[in-house]
Amino acid sequence: MTVTEFFADGYKNLKDVNISPSPGVNIFYGENAQGKTNLIEAIWILSGAKSFRGTKERDAVAFDRDLARLNLSLEDSEREQKIEAVLTKNPREKKILLNGIKQRSLTSLFGVLKCVVFTPEDLELSKGSPDIRRDFIDLCVSQIKPRYQKTVQKYETVLAQRNALLKNIAIGISNQNDLDVWDDQMAKLGAYISVIKHRYTEKLSVFAGKLYYEISSGKEALRLEYFSTVYPNLSGRTDWQNELYLEYLNILKKSRADDIRAGFTTVGIHRDDVIVTVNGKIARDFGSQGQNRSAALSMKLAQAYILNEETGEMPVILLDDVLSELDKTRREFIISKLEGMQIFITCCETVKKLRGKRFRVEGGNVGKKAEKEKG
Ligand SMILES: Nc1ncnc2c1ncn2[C@@H]1O[C@H](COP(=O)(O)OP(=O)(O)OP(=O)(O)O)[C@@H](O)[C@H]1O
Ligand SMILES: [Mg+2]
Repeated sequence: MTVTEFFADGYKNLKDVNISPSPGVNIFYGENAQGKTNLIEAIWILSGAKSFRGTKERDAVAFDRDLARLNLSLEDSEREQKIEAVLTKNPREKKILLNGIKQRSLTSLFGVLKCVVFTPEDLELSKGSPDIRRDFIDLCVSQIKPRYQKTVQKYETVLAQRNALLKNIAIGISNQNDLDVWDDQMAKLGAYISVIKHRYTEKLSVFAGKLYYEISSGKEALRLEYFSTVYPNLSGRTDWQNELYLEYLNILKKSRADDIRAGFTTVGIHRDDVIVTVNGKIARDFGSQGQNRSAALSMKLAQAYILNEETGEMPVILLDDVLSELDKTRREFIISKLEGMQIFITCCETVKKLRGKRFRVEGGNVGKKAEKEKG
């Protein structure tokens, strides 16, 4: 899949950006704080995912403007598609169109523009806290199954309601039996999500394992395993509507007293993790900096490969400032593994030796305009 045209105006500091990217490598270079990451972020949010910097939609509108306009044309294996977004400070006034048809939100665009973004924070994927890995797997699955996103949101709502109730029970204004209805919903959603995430992690382990084997020149083995706080072993188990649901329900009942004491739900998918091991040792605790970086890169590359395998489309790759963070071996590895995909790269100085279409970014202007303003 390739982005053929991209327009942005009023998105953070971006001004009247109008580019026709190459189907290969595109390099955005310039000084700090000129808008390189803003450009990557603007493309990324059109994929339907949340900003990787945590920017809320209304904060994405330029300080001195009322709205931000983003247009993107893409070509996938079947057709050309056009995404148009007008983001406003008042979220009710925003407008999102896909091929001219009105959409409810940016999230409704999930699955149209398939993107994988690499940021310096992603290099913490194996070393960071469990929530980073939980969110990562949720995102990977949502890109393949756009409806999965809604299931996770529903689970989060149920979790918040159950936690509020636990607190009310502790202070004596609610009854323990009131938990039954939330436990039931939680078990249904939780059992399904566990199965999906476990299955995805198995696949990720295979793909990332192969990549890691290569990057370590066959010396080390990477494995990923889904760690469930509910089920001792999920291998080969898929019956989320019956057995797995009942087991989940049972665990919630068992942990009720603990949960009331703690004031929150102590078990469930919101406490699960993905365990990353190198040669059988947990990378987070025992891995070197280099091993963790290779593990993170392998996991991100695997995300792109699986997305391609599952959807038949090569994702568009966004590399924000990662190349400068990596040593030569890892830099060359990642670029070689992304061959054939459209890539958007940002960097401070033009990364030498890298071939591609170059765009200068200065003061929110990109390409020819930035060159002209430079004089
Ligand atoms: N809502 C907004 N309106 C206008 N400008 C904004 C807004 N939000 C952020 N900015 C500006 O965007 C600039 C940062 O842009 P960006 O993060 O894209 O820089 P960058 O070129 O990636 O820099 P670096 O090389 O340091 O990563 C800052 O100057 C910031 O003030
Ligand atoms: Mg940046």
